[in-house]
Amino acid sequence: MAANWKMHKTPAETADFLARLIPLLAPAAAEGAPERARVCDIVVAPPFPCLPAAATAARGAGIELAGQNMHWETHGAFTGEVSAAMLLAVGCRYVILGHSERRQYFGETDATINRKLLAALNAGLRPIVCVGETLAQREAGQTETVLREQLERGFLGIKATQAPPCILAYEPVWAIGTGRTATPELAADAHRYLRQRLARLWGDSAAAACRILYGGSVKPDNIRGLMAQPELDGALVGGASLDPQSFAALVDF
Ligand code: PGA
Repeated sequence: MAANWKMHKTPAETADFLARLIPLLAPAAAEGAPERARVCDIVVAPPFPCLPAAATAARGAGIELAGQNMHWETHGAFTGEVSAAMLLAVGCRYVILGHSERRQYFGETDATINRKLLAALNAGLRPIVCVGETLAQREAGQTETVLREQLERGFLGIKATQAPPCILAYEPVWAIGTGRTATPELAADAHRYLRQRLARLWGDSAAAACRILYGGSVKPDNIRGLMAQPELDGALVGGASLDPQSFAALVDF
């Protein structure tokens, strides 16, 4: 269950969020753990300046951190960018790549996402790679073509041996921040298609092991229906992840 905070919260607000979230969560599953032990991985992606505060506040709570983006180079004259090593140094184990807002507002392409993906894997970060169609593309019957192209171009050159850390997020653009969630069946269809394409790239077992998250207006009141679909392995959540009660309800659905 991954929280994408986008451009929300200061370091103080981040610390406050985690201080309120942690007591709400069931303890992480461990040997001999109580019945209600948590069985899912939790990832929070705050803005870059909040990562050190998040690392301190989340210590020992079984919550992992993600960057919301990164550059593919290790260092250099790239004003405004951060590297994989910088994310690792402030406690990230994950990085979100190719979010539709990055594609839409900041000119990211499948080719740049592919460079970032290779750099993230080389550095030892777990990438959460986002794909998804716009409303116009869905209405024009292009959903599968768009997903296939984003997947094949984004994962170009990534071998089956590099697959295990990779996480895919299906985020239909028309469902992001709109309150218009994909129906569980529609999300499941897209996930099934993505997994078939992954199997073509990596073979059946690597594809079966890849987690595919759904994202787009996931809320406490629709999470159960979505997660009842076996094709959905988790969720990437924007708006509903900003409040500790709401995010805890998603984690403990
Ligand atoms: P949303 O955002 O949950 O606010 O729709 C999801 C996302 O963009 O990852």
